Amino acid sequence: MKQPETLLEMDRVTKSYPMPDGPAVEVLRGVTLAVAAGESVAIVGPSGSGKSTLLNIAGTLDAASSGSVRVRGRDLAGLDERALADLRTRTIGFVFQQHHLLPQCTVLENVLLPALAGGGRVSSRTHAKARALLDRVALGDRAGHRPGQLSGGESQRAAVVRALINDPAILLADEPTGSLDHAAAGALGDLLADLGRDGLALIVVTHSGELAARMKRRLSLIDGRLISGDGPA
Ligand SMILES: Nc1ncnc2c1ncn2[C@@H]1O[C@H](COP(=O)(O)OP(=O)(O)OP(=O)(O)O)[C@@H](O)[C@H]1O
Ligand SMILES: [Mg+2]
Repeated sequence: MKQPETLLEMDRVTKSYPMPDGPAVEVLRGVTLAVAAGESVAIVGPSGSGKSTLLNIAGTLDAASSGSVRVRGRDLAGLDERALADLRTRTIGFVFQQHHLLPQCTVLENVLLPALAGGGRVSSRTHAKARALLDRVALGDRAGHRPGQLSGGESQRAAVVRALINDPAILLADEPTGSLDHAAAGALGDLLADLGRDGLALIVVTHSGELAARMKRRLSLIDGRLISGDGPA
């Protein structure tokens, strides 16, 4: 059988933030992680351990201090801002810890935004996909609402749909069920688990043991390194 493509590879990635008066904050101290198509990984860890930092680096939004990151085999170190943005738009979907919906746009407009990143118009196929995904997260009747008219959980679900609109190969989700009640979190967990089966590479940062249990691998970020319960990361 053909091996699934390794979509994301992080090799001995470190990240430290220089501080004007005092020692640098060392957040990541050698993170090594490979995620292939169809794999799902949960990352847990205490607040401040660097989970969001790790996702931002994996998603090309922030640069590592040292070590290498490869997305679909391409080393990010060799890419300029424009090439990075292009790779990000085509390959990576983000669900941020704060959902970052634009308040002046409707739900439908918000979820279609990434589809506009390449310039031009949104195709009717993409419109149909947006509608279908909104239905799937039970937001079909909220497409015309603005974010200020949504609950926290509804905003979070809209953010998941937005992350999926460009059919990313890699989905990075930072506490996607953080503001959801039990039923809504379960429904979103179902959607995320389905995506893994559809061949996405999925990395989910979560405090929820239930959501973590639905991912194929579970890793803990402790002292700047990933520790696996199921063998080496
Ligand atoms: N721009 C920055 N400058 C300096 N320190 C930073 C910066 N961004 C993050 N940090 C520090 O890096 C550490 C990791 O932050 P990060 O947001 O990655 O944590 P986290 O694991 O996502 O936490 P939480 O679970 O609370 O979301 C924190 O101690 C934070 O204060
Ligand atoms: Mg965080």
